[in-house]
Parts: sequence; C-alpha cells; structure tokens
Amino acid sequence: MKNVMILTGAGQIGMAIARRMGYGMKIVIGDKKSENAQAISKIMNEAGFDTVAMEMDFSSRESIRALIAQGQKHGPITMLVNAAGVSPSQAPIEAILKVDLYGTAVLLEEASKVIAPGGVGVTISSQSGHRMPALTPKEDEQLACTPTEELLNLDILKPENIRDTLHAYQLAKRCNEKRVMAESVKWGEKGARVNSISHGIIVTPLALDEFNGPRGDFYKNMFAKCPAGRPGTADEVANVAELLMSDKGAFITGADFLIDGGATASYFYGPLKPQN
Ligand SMILES: NC(=O)c1ccc[n+]([C@@H]2O[C@H](COP(=O)([O-])OP(=O)(O)OC[C@H]3O[C@@H](n4cnc5c(N)ncnc54)[C@H](O)[C@@H]3O)[C@@H](O)[C@H]2O)c1
Repeated sequence: MKNVMILTGAGQIGMAIARRMGYGMKIVIGDKKSENAQAISKIMNEAGFDTVAMEMDFSSRESIRALIAQGQKHGPITMLVNAAGVSPSQAPIEAILKVDLYGTAVLLEEASKVIAPGGVGVTISSQSGHRMPALTPKEDEQLACTPTEELLNLDILKPENIRDTLHAYQLAKRCNEKRVMAESVKWGEKGARVNSISHGIIVTPLALDEFNGPRGDFYKNMFAKCPAGRPGTADEVANVAELLMSDKGAFITGADFLIDGGATASYFYGPLKPQN
C-alpha cells in the first residue's frame, strides 16, 4: 500500500503539481480524454513516478466516486489535485457550469469524506474569479454553502442571468474559491487542509485554445501589459502548490492564492483597466 494522490485533469498544470508533490505515492490520474490521462501517465511513469490512468467525467458524481474508489484500492488518499476544467473558448455555458463549477463542488465534497488525517488538497481556480465585480454577501454565501445538487438551480447561475461563456467561467471560478472556504471547515475536522490557486495565463493547450480563439487579442494584450510582461508556466503554479501542500503551508487552509504576474492588479489599477 502507498499514500495516494488523486489527480483530476491530465493537463500541464496537473502534471506539474503531481511531479512536484507525488514522488513515492500512487497517483491516480482521471481525465475525460483517456488519451490525455494515458499520455501523462506514460511520461510520469518513465520519470520514476507510479501512476495509473483512468477515463472519467468530472461533471458526474458517479464518475468522481469511481475515481476515488480506484484510488482507495492502493492506500489512503492523502493528496488531491484538481486541475480539470474547460475554458470559455472550449465549451458552452452549460458545460462550463457543469464541469468547472458543479464538478469541482462534487469533488471537494466527495474527497472530504475520504481524505486521510494530515491530507492536503488544491483545486485550480482562475484569476477570472478575481476580475468579476464583487457579488453580494448573500450570493457569495449561496455559492459557498448551497447543497451541491442544488447549486445549478441558484438564480445567479440560471442561463438567462449569464451573459456569455466568460461570465459563466468567472462565476464558476468565484464559486470554486467560496466552495474551498466552506469545505476547509469540513476538511479541518479530519485534520486535513484544502486551498485553491487562482493563476493567470499559463501556457497550456487550454491557453493556446484561448490565444487562437475569439478572445485571442484580449489575452495577448493581457500578458503583454501585466507587470510580469509574459504568461506563466505550469511549474510556477507548482511552486505555489508546493507551499500549500507541504508542511510549510500547515497554517494555510480555506485560502485562495492569486498568481497572475500582476494582471489583476493592472486590470484594476493599471494599463489593463477597461476604458469604458
Ligand atoms: N491555462 C491557463 O491560462 C489557465 C488560466 C486560468 C485558469 N486555468 C484553469 O486551470 C485548470 C487546468 O487547465 P490547463 O490549462 O492545464 O488545461 P488543459 O487543457 O491542459 O487540461 C485540462 C484537462 O481537463 C480535462 N477535462 C476537461 N473536461 C473534463 C471533464 N468533464 N472530466 C474530466 N476531465 C476533463 C481535459 O481533457 C484536459 O486534459 C482549469 O481549471 C482551467 O480553468 C487555466
């Protein structure tokens, strides 16, 4: 038996975090695209990690439970890395809400039932959640605490109240942060911690779809005019994950970490500020 890491989303960011934290563990990799999970599993196994790939759909509770059950066959689940997701240019509103918002909420809930004492989790949110104007305290609380199966019935998440896929994505990512806050209380009862990382543009296949999609110029302008003057790399996200998931982060739980090269700062108080 080994300590087990559950990794959802076999993308660059998930792999970077798994490589940083998953040595000596059994890593169970779940992705809707079986070929993505297999590819990352192969790269990691050939680099000394012990991984197994599984096809799963993050928007289904049953599928999330099956992934966790697969992990439990190998030992106690001590780490959760959630890096599955779809971007505003990849999917329609309903899919963004079902995957990024509902799927994350279900995974955090199901993982809280099985996480071992001392366990740690991170879920990938986005700078997009920080850019959206503040919601009311009541709306924030609804996103944080509404029972998972009722989340998508909230007024604020009804399709007629959502402008476009970017708005849906922003709401999903805001919800991720709020959900992590509420879940951290339950994880704490188990002696476990959970946090979210809101990163900015990180070069991955998902980001490349954005660069080449209808908002391509918007994204290129964003990283050109942010203080860092460039997009980030998955390994820089792993630097933050390492802090949050190691003993150095023992006092950090229920928190969200913004790592965006200063793009959000520039959006509110610098050259990225919208002109109208
Ligand atoms: N790359 C960026 O610039 C950026 C910026 C902010 C936030 N994010 C977030 O980072 C996370 C990871 O994205 P990435 O850039 O590594 O993308 P990626 O496309 O490299 O990886 C995402 C993975 O999630 C998988 N996935 C999508 N829908 C799924 C589903 N229903 N069930 C299971 N797996 C599913 C995809 O198949 C893919 O392998 C996402 O939550 C994304 O919203 C990315």
